[in-house]
Amino acid sequence: MRHLHPEPAESDLDELYRGLTLPTGGPDRDGWVALCMVSSLDGAVALDGVSGGLGGDADLLALSRLRASNDVSLVGAGTVRDERYGPLRGSAARREDRAARGLRPVPRLAIVSRSGALDPELPVFADPEHPPLVLTSDAADQRRLARLEDRAELHVFPDGQLGGGVVVEHLVSLGLPRILCEGGPTLNQALLTEDRIDEVFLTLAPTLVGGSAARIVAGRAEAPRGFELVSVFEHAGDLLLRHRRGTHRP
Ligand SMILES: NC(=O)c1ccc[n+]([C@@H]2O[C@H](COP(=O)([O-])OP(=O)(O)OC[C@H]3O[C@@H](n4cnc5c(N)ncnc54)[C@H](OP(=O)(O)O)[C@@H]3O)[C@@H](O)[C@H]2O)c1
Repeated sequence: MRHLHPEPAESDLDELYRGLTLPTGGPDRDGWVALCMVSSLDGAVALDGVSGGLGGDADLLALSRLRASNDVSLVGAGTVRDERYGPLRGSAARREDRAARGLRPVPRLAIVSRSGALDPELPVFADPEHPPLVLTSDAADQRRLARLEDRAELHVFPDGQLGGGVVVEHLVSLGLPRILCEGGPTLNQALLTEDRIDEVFLTLAPTLVGGSAARIVAGRAEAPRGFELVSVFEHAGDLLLRHRRGTHRP
């Protein structure tokens, strides 16, 4: 792996984000949201409807290391449905690594879904030891929610209130301030709109996709925010960019 910024150097890929623990908040607020995404050169977040075909080994390792750095992985219902998310148990080594740094061995998983349209047979609900949180709204179909009751921890909000700020504040109130947002673009937009993205880990894959896949943040309203470059690594053509919310131009 080549380090391109801040200092040029070479190291084993295994050094990538090793030992990283997300902060519990910024100088002026509790909670820290790190976004982790992969995109093609032309900004597509999916190939054939899923992100898996875009990144290489370094991207997979980055995601694994970030899942060793957080209290909770936050994900939108579209991603859970499209990518058939599973529970986040991780390897024994990752569980030990997390525990050694004072984190719970397995991060919680929080799914945001206004409609509650989540099939209880999805793999993500299959581990009774690690039920996900589902942040949903009182506009959701009550029968759908009832089917999830013994497979997930349901948190129901008044319709229209599940903005980025409420989601983050709720997770902080549950003792889960280190938040890794794993997408997708619609959820990312809700966070960006309320200026709740503190850090972005983006893998830029050396691929052009074309078509109509979304960008990493996608929604109706523009909400420009400035970010500052923290580090750049390269491995097998993948560029791993890390940016932090800052004062740079929007
Ligand atoms: N390249 C990458 O790194 C990456 C990462 C993740 C996903 N993806 C791709 O992104 C695509 C999915 O995109 P997407 O935009 O549909 O994903 P998404 O943001 O995961 O899901 C959108 C759904 O999440 C729920 N949701 C999101 N924000 C909400 C809010 N503020 N309030 C209430 N509900 C909210 C809604 O669920 P309900 O419909 O249930 O109400 C909404 O329809 C897939 O192709 C996936 O492969 C790519």
